[in-house]
Amino acid sequence: MEGTDISQLKAGDQHYLAYVGPPDQYDFMGATQFRLLCTLGLRANHSLLDFGCGSLRAGRLFLNYLDEGRYFGIEPNQWLIEGAINKMVGRDLVAIKKPRFDYNSDFMTNVFSERFDFIVAQSVFSHASGDLINIALHNFKASLKPTGIIVATFFKGDSDYDGSGWVYPGCVSYRHSTIERFAKEAGLFIAQLPWYHPRQTWYTFSIDQGRIPNKSMLQHLSGAVLFSPEFADSWDKTSKGAGLIRKSAPGVWAKSIKKGLKKLIEKGGP
Ligand SMILES: C[S@@+](CC[C@H](N)C(=O)[O-])C[C@H]1O[C@@H](n2cnc3c(N)ncnc32)[C@H](O)[C@@H]1O
Repeated sequence: MEGTDISQLKAGDQHYLAYVGPPDQYDFMGATQFRLLCTLGLRANHSLLDFGCGSLRAGRLFLNYLDEGRYFGIEPNQWLIEGAINKMVGRDLVAIKKPRFDYNSDFMTNVFSERFDFIVAQSVFSHASGDLINIALHNFKASLKPTGIIVATFFKGDSDYDGSGWVYPGCVSYRHSTIERFAKEAGLFIAQLPWYHPRQTWYTFSIDQGRIPNKSMLQHLSGAVLFSPEFADSWDKTSKGAGLIRKSAPGVWAKSIKKGLKKLIEKGGP
């Protein structure tokens, strides 16, 4: 895929920068996962399972941060990991940090014989049927330290996907109450997080209720991004409607933002 024009790719295309989501948000979607886990207390000596790690969108940041042997990735599409290592991460970092990868597609997390401090599954359950989510959460629990933390995203909707198997690159939605039921059935405590996501909703799970953020902690989990018009609705609630317009008519949004910025620049700022 050398020489590919990234701007021509769309989410789900067979390119390591596109297969995992919108290519123009590849950087952001990696950074926001890293920022969330650091805010939840991830330290360099912790062990992290990046479940469905794809092309190391977040993994490349975790790899740099974590100590040797602390990053674990599960991803059935090995070519995504190889693409990321060849084009972004480099063999030297792999030799230094010694990440471990497994390519199973059975939601098996005991393959490393490790209990994790953190498990992240970003945009995995948004493609999975309820029976797969049940298997995954049961396995996550068995691979989690007693004080460990799981974070995962869901497409929260008004109805539940009742089909089977893996849906890709399409997405499936679940009601909040169904997501809570998944947690209950796996024997996990759960909370919805206010951490910003441009399309989905973040949830956290733990065996230990003490690892579920309380109200005063939740206010620190906004995930806001300042000075980036694309993500203005992460902090400016009045731009929510504008966010919807942006999603349905990106050209219109880009034009209005540019106009607004031009005005500000001409005026010398507010
Ligand atoms: C939307 S991508 C998200 C990738 C990554 N979590 C990120 O945020 O960049 C979903 C990923 O799940 C992977 N996947 C598909 N089936 C899987 C399975 N059975 N177990 C784990 N991951 C799977 C896909 O190959 C893909 O890389």
